[in-house]
Amino acid sequence: MTATALPPSRPPDASPGPAAGTETVLVLDFGSQYSQLIARRIRELSVYCELVPGNTPVAEIAGRRPRGLVLSGGPSSVYDQDALRPDHGIYELDVPILGICYGMQLLAHDLGGRVSASARREYGLASVVVDQGEGLFAGLPQEMPVWMSHGDVIEQLPDGFRPLAHTVNSPVAAMAGPGGRVGIQFHPEVAHTPQGMELLRNFLYRTCGCSGSWEPSGFVERAVAEIRQRVGSEPVICALSGGVDSAVAATLVHRAVGDQLTCVFVDNGLLRRGEADRVIGVLTRNTRMRIVRVEAADRFLAALRGVTEPEEKRRVVGREFIRAFEEETRRLGEVRFLAQGTLYPDVIESTAADTFGAHKIKTHHNVGGLPQGMRFALVEPLRYLFKDEVRRVGQTLGLPEDMVQRQPFPGPGLAIRVIGEVTRERLETVRGADWVVIDEIKRSGLYHRVWQSFAILTPVSSVGVMGDFRTYANVVAVRIVESDDGMTADWARVPYDVLSEISRRIVNEVPGVNRVVYDISSKPPSTIEWE
Ligand code: XMP
Repeated sequence: MTATALPPSRPPDASPGPAAGTETVLVLDFGSQYSQLIARRIRELSVYCELVPGNTPVAEIAGRRPRGLVLSGGPSSVYDQDALRPDHGIYELDVPILGICYGMQLLAHDLGGRVSASARREYGLASVVVDQGEGLFAGLPQEMPVWMSHGDVIEQLPDGFRPLAHTVNSPVAAMAGPGGRVGIQFHPEVAHTPQGMELLRNFLYRTCGCSGSWEPSGFVERAVAEIRQRVGSEPVICALSGGVDSAVAATLVHRAVGDQLTCVFVDNGLLRRGEADRVIGVLTRNTRMRIVRVEAADRFLAALRGVTEPEEKRRVVGREFIRAFEEETRRLGEVRFLAQGTLYPDVIESTAADTFGAHKIKTHHNVGGLPQGMRFALVEPLRYLFKDEVRRVGQTLGLPEDMVQRQPFPGPGLAIRVIGEVTRERLETVRGADWVVIDEIKRSGLYHRVWQSFAILTPVSSVGVMGDFRTYANVVAVRIVESDDGMTADWARVPYDVLSEISRRIVNEVPGVNRVVYDISSKPPSTIEWE
């Protein structure tokens, strides 16, 4: 891993961020898969939090006037030549610091302690025994389960530090020093550490003295004012995808500048049954914003003819979207501003990909996220919000529950749920199966309890028997997963009765299907979508 010069975490035209003065905690990201989760947890505790690259210059950090800093975990060892390190100046700031895992080792090492490779890598659940029930551990049990993932251990504490807790393998599982400098060897942000939120709360409220003023719905007025100021009297366009993000972004912009906004809904023919009508209907009724619908199914299908490779499908859908969108905007005349529903995880991930050379698994195509060749100034009112916060903003804006709480749907749509070539007929098949899955999942009350539920049309045909006849027809797979954020997922243990009804209805109601299978893979090693 190479520590490179990093782009600033806040691009100059970013809009609208939290107003100056918002109580902020910064997470310095050293590449842990959990860094983003730390920021989310802190926001859930009503403290505004952002992720910045681990080696952000101290002047930039100080300029944000943070109430506290968190050093995240990361894949390095403090003795690695090319380990990503913080600017040493952060230790001169009068700001509490919480080091987590690698972050704790950095803290110990940088402040004069000694870190060494442990005889045994500690990974998974461990039991931590609290030796000093104060500060971070105030009000917590004396022994509790925690999630560990580390190779190095603290051998000698820096001057002025004292141990707070231990595990069988880590004599120092937590430490505290002067000036609110604290470290923990385990991960408080993951669900496997049940008392993790309490621990973070202690850091934020006891150590940093935060007051807990962050409330996403309070963000609406500020965002509206900032959009108004930025856009003035110019026209704005926004691509609607049918998802929560673009709908909330458009609604905010509409509230700010009214009819200066035109939304474009490209119906690519890859949507769920009745989706385009439903989305346009709901938004028109609730917001009265102007929506132009572009019927583009034919062009998408023509472009997808003969394409079977998943990444190629994504490229084709992305390209055709830009073309259709461009043609439409040209009709609208001179437009300078493009509103997009970019979320904070998108921002973090694009920075993280630059920073850590993260391995690309799939190219995610977001309807709002592509027109690179187009010279628009971007209006991205959600760029500092997490998904659950966007949902709360949507509710505050009066969008209906079934729009705000809907399950995610991928930008390339059903094209990546028809395995193999995408044809009109195969789309119709997967659409029919998808309808049944969603209908049954809603009927059983599971729709909001699972992350996603959908059907995949496999390229496999199987032999069956219907009535007295042999059939040779399509196999449909059903995928229902539980997840926190889509980064990891597990297949949902849906009651057999529900699965049985889904299977029975698909085979009976969807022509050309004679077999249904249930996908029982978790992510990793699988992904949520099949392509
Ligand atoms: P995977 O398949 O990568 O999916 O495990 C994780 C989550 O992302 C969604 N997904 C996408 N969303 N554009 C999107 O907007 C895409 O290209 C895309 N591909 C996957 C997927 O539905 C799941 O929620």
